Parts: sequence; structure tokens; C-alpha cells
Amino acid sequence: MVDVLGSLAEVAANYNYVRPRLKNDGVIDIKDGRHPLVERILTRDLFVPNDTHLSHGDSEIMLITGPNMAGKSTYMRQVALLTLMAQIGSFIPAREASISPVDRIFTRIGASDDLVSGQSTFMVEMNEVAQILKYATRDSLVILDEIGRGTSTFDGMSIARAVIEHIEKKVHAKTLFATHYHELTDLEDDKIKNFCVAVKERGTQVAFLRRIVPGAADKSYGIHVARLAGLPKVVTQRAEDILSELESEHGEIIPKAAAARAEAKAPAEEPMMASLFASSLSDSLLALDVMTMTPLEAMNELYKLQEQAKKEAGRA
Ligand SMILES: Nc1ncnc2c1ncn2[C@@H]1O[C@H](COP(=O)(O)OP(=O)(O)OP(=O)(O)O)[C@@H](O)[C@H]1O
Ligand SMILES: [Mg+2]
Repeated sequence: MVDVLGSLAEVAANYNYVRPRLKNDGVIDIKDGRHPLVERILTRDLFVPNDTHLSHGDSEIMLITGPNMAGKSTYMRQVALLTLMAQIGSFIPAREASISPVDRIFTRIGASDDLVSGQSTFMVEMNEVAQILKYATRDSLVILDEIGRGTSTFDGMSIARAVIEHIEKKVHAKTLFATHYHELTDLEDDKIKNFCVAVKERGTQVAFLRRIVPGAADKSYGIHVARLAGLPKVVTQRAEDILSELESEHGEIIPKAAAARAEAKAPAEEPMMASLFASSLSDSLLALDVMTMTPLEAMNELYKLQEQAKKEAGRA
């Protein structure tokens, strides 16, 4: 016990932590919160602090959109960690905070699979979501990082939307939900609030400001991140071309959720949609969830698509 308390005191003193106020009003209110580990690991950049306000009144669900690499996952874990630290009696990395204890913290983050027990990546994800919806209560804190990413766009978006709706109507847990499905931002209402991560664009350069601000993101910058990650130039340039073709043809890569629902209900009666499926290549392209792919997945897919295109052009 002395070791534990001594350690908590030491990090609090060394790293400028504050004593959170513990309350029982169901509110989590953090000013200038920081991620205790990420802020220690960063060497070149300064960690950007962020506020959090979760309450059953006006902001029960924070729906966070924002480009790849913006800091969504870091932010959500930060809120969970600070809540946990406050609850075990620790000081926390923030300017000030008032935190209501939670009964449990549920998280669904990152892709993992459990091949030995016969579960695929998506199955594991859905299992975890099922557990959360079953056991979370009004007093829980729920962190959902991009659920629905492991399946096709329409499937994934539909599941994500239905899960948020269920949490809002039935569970009422304080929830942080990060997503690349920008169409979900139209769910905003008196309980669901949109947040995004600020980005500054200058020419082709993109700066991630790591600031969580109210509002919805409109772009993903996936190709930009792929470039940063070192994908060959031919691939990222080709991706840019494909993206602009898709955008000029359809306005947006992922049709609005409403269109998605309409298509799910009456696929055969939609002549517009039918023409899009003319070639198996556009079929495969449409099935891609470009917004949420990892750079590696994007590269694999591009390779496959090109092989397919070669075949269709009779050049295989
Ligand atoms: N508040 C912050 N201040 C400084 N750097 C940060 C901050 N938040 C995140 N970062 C840095 O940005 C990196 C990417 O953050 P994170 O993984 O949270 O992005 P993301 O929005 O979840 O991206 P993706 O959509 O690809 O999952 C982190 O590894 C970290 O180094
Ligand atoms: Mg993330």
C-alpha cells in the first residue's frame, strides 16, 4: 500500500497532476486533460491538452469524427484513464476536473482476433459490443473506437448507427464514440454531441492540431496519412486519382446514410445504383471502406484492384 500511494504521489508531484473533485452528479468534467502515457512518450511534439464534458443532461454521447492520426483514440483512452485514476484515489494530469465515479468502464478498441478459439476479427469486435450493450448501465463509461470498421461500409455504418441509437434510448451510459462514418454526425440531438479534431490545411500540407472541438469533420485525409507512412508514390498518386474520380462521380465516396438505408431496402428498384455495379471493378471499389482502411490494407486492395483491372482489360 505504501508503494502504491508513494508512486501515485511521486507521479503527481513530478508531472503536474491535480486533485480531481469527486462528485455524485453523474458528470465527468475535465479541463485540459492529458494522456498520462502519451504525454511522457512524445519527444518532438508537445502534448495538446483537451477538455471533456459528459453528462446525462446535455452531452451523454460524444460522437468524435476526425482524420486518421488526429488523436481520437488517444483522447478517448485519456478520458477513461483519468476517470479510472480519479476513482482509485490518484491525482490526474489535468488543469482541473470534477469526476463522478462510474460502475464500470467498457472499451471496444483496436482490431484483434482470437484464432485459437475460432473467432475472426469482426466476430471478436461484435462479441465485445454485445457484452457492452448487455452489461453497461447508466453509470458506466463506454468507449467505442470505430465499431463496424471490420465489415463492408453499409453493414458497418448501419451497425454503428444502431448501436449509438440503442445506447441513447436504452442504456444511457456516458459514451465516447469515434467513427470515420461522417454520415453518423446527423444523429446529433439533445444527448448526442458532435466533436471533431481540428486540422489545418495549407496547400497539400496537413497539420494535425490535436484539439477536440465541437462540430463534425468533413474529410479523412487517409491518403495523406498513407503518404506519411511511406507508401510508394505511384500508389498514393493512383489513390488520389481514384478518390477524385469517385468523388466527381458520386459526390461522396460513401453515399449518405439515408441512401444507404434506401438501397438496403430496395436494391433492385434503384436504377442509379444498378449502373454503378456494371463492372466487377467498380463493384469492388464501391465495397471498399476507404475512410477507415489502414495504409497497409489500402495498398493490398489497390494491388488487387489493379490486377482485376488488368484482367478486365485483357492484359493479365
Ligand atoms: N493531444 C495530443 N497531443 C499531441 N500528440 C497527440 C495527441 N493525441 C494524439 N497524439 C499523437 O497522434 C498519434 C495518433 O493519435 P491517435 O491514434 O489517437 O489518432 P486517431 O485519430 O485515433 O487515428 P485513426 O483514425 O487512424 O485511428 C498518437 O500516436 C500520438 O503520438
Ligand atoms: Mg484511432
